Parts: sequence; structure tokens; C-alpha cells
Amino acid sequence: MRKKVTVVGGGFVGSTAAQRIADAELADVVLTDILEGVPAGKGLDMLESGPILRSDARVIGISTNTGDYRETANSDIVVITAGFPRKPGMSRDDLLRANYDVVKGVVEQMAKYSPNAILIMVTNPLDAMAQAAYKISGFSKNRVMGMAGVLDSARMSTFVAMELGVSVENVHSFVLGGHGDDMVPLPRYSTVAGIPLPDLLPKERIDAIVERTRKGGAEIVNLLKTGSAYYAPSAAVFEMVEAILKDKEKILPCAAYLEGEYSIKGLFVGVPVKLGARGVEQIIQIKLTPEENAALQKSAASVRELVTVLGL
Ligand code: 2OP
Repeated sequence: MRKKVTVVGGGFVGSTAAQRIADAELADVVLTDILEGVPAGKGLDMLESGPILRSDARVIGISTNTGDYRETANSDIVVITAGFPRKPGMSRDDLLRANYDVVKGVVEQMAKYSPNAILIMVTNPLDAMAQAAYKISGFSKNRVMGMAGVLDSARMSTFVAMELGVSVENVHSFVLGGHGDDMVPLPRYSTVAGIPLPDLLPKERIDAIVERTRKGGAEIVNLLKTGSAYYAPSAAVFEMVEAILKDKEKILPCAAYLEGEYSIKGLFVGVPVKLGARGVEQIIQIKLTPEENAALQKSAASVRELVTVLGL
């Protein structure tokens, strides 16, 4: 049977994610947006690139204002990107309430039409939005997750590769915690061809990379002026979707629901997980130094504040 992915939100992140999935012939794609015409136009445009890119993925776009959610029925994965993006000077957390309302409506519909789907939350602030999706959908915890660790780690890897003048393929970076200003890049667990980063770079260079990683989203927002990043975020979504649809059992940092792991209970926070056909199949627990653990707990406390505001 063909796989089906619904991408909710036809903005830059959603449409680029849809494009990456369709181009790789990973699944049929339904792109939805509240706008009229735009998702249908983008979907048709993507479909028409199939003959050139040799992809038989079926792509359609629907407006959820006028269209019918039935087109999304029985999706294997639903990627939720709908919501308001960051503007310069705005933190991810400023988006909290506005995006909660958007996510609530979407998740209710998606849970109804695709009751067996795996939900990947991208809408910011995404750890809190993953918590909202988990509560609203009633899905089991393995079927709800947030995308961010893959993106933040990719940013860190980019900066490490630039600093050392090596291939990005040599670099594995590890960023845990919430996708906020106090995310937790872990240099000790970040490696270049298997060599831990602290063996290759002096502390001040590592500190600079950590700082740039933490502010990676804002750096792009400030450059774009009218929107936020989408190439790297959509690539991160693609990697997660691929790991699930191909049942790769791939270890990736994702926002997952913790029930005591890392001493965090009842909260979505970015940790290493094993992604496969059942979604989050395992939460990988790694040993942290007291400082690393303190940073993770601080980041979790920031997520906790947001979910408390939302009464989740
Ligand atoms: C990013 O990190 C805006 O959260 C988004 O690019």
C-alpha cells in the first residue's frame, strides 16, 4: 500500500517539506492550508515536477476553508506546520496562544480522519505544541513528537564543519532540550569522525558554536525579515518522516513525551529517541554531567512554563 503524508500548513516550511517528500517519492502528499487556491496550486505545481524528477508520488493541495478533510483520511504521518511564524524581535514563545488555537483545530480534525497517524509537530513553540497535540489527539505517546533537535543539531554540525573545514558528513552534533533560547547543545557528545569535539577545538570556539546554534533560528529571522527558516526545518522533517516510513530505527533528537526519563515527568522535551514505524520506539537515556543536566532541567522548566500557561 502507498504511504500517505499530510502536511498541514502550505507556508514555506510546509510546502518545502511536502516537496522534499514528494521529490524523494517517499509517500503521496496532501498539503492543506486555510488559504483558498494556494495549496491546490502548490500541490499541482509539485505534481507536475514528477515527470522531470521521476517521482510518481501523488500530490494534492486542499483548502481546509472550503475543501474536505476527507482527502487527508488515513494518513500514515501528519506534519503540522500551520501557525504564525516568528517575526524579528519575537521569541518562539510569543507565538504560544495564537498558535495553540490553530493547532487545536487542526489536531481535532486530523485525529478524526487519521486516527492511526503519527503526528510530527513543527509549529512553534513546538515542545508546547507537541504537548497540546498529545492531549488533544488522545494518541499514545509514541505517536506524537516534535521536530527541533534534528534542526538544531544540523545547525550545530554546519558551524562545526565550517570551523574545522571538514565535510558535514563527518560531523554528528547533539542538541537536547526544548527548541528555545536555552536549548542544550552537548559538545561532549558531538563528534567529528568519531572524535569528541572538545578534543578538536578550544573551549572558546566551542562556546561560540554553541551560542550561534542557540540563536540559529533568530539569525535566519533577522536576515529574512519577513519570515523564518524553512530549508533546514523542512530537511529535518524529511529525515524524521523517512526514518518512520522506512522503519529505520534511527536515533535522532526529537521532542518526546517524558515520563521520568532524565527526571522529567509529563512533558515534551528534546531527547534522543529511536524513530521507526511505531514512531518514538525508545527514549535513549545518556549520562549527563551535573552541568549538562542542570541545563536540560532549565530548558525543561521553560517548556513547563508554557504548557502551564496553556493549562496542559
Ligand atoms: C527556527 O529555529 C523559527 O524555530 C524556527 O528556525
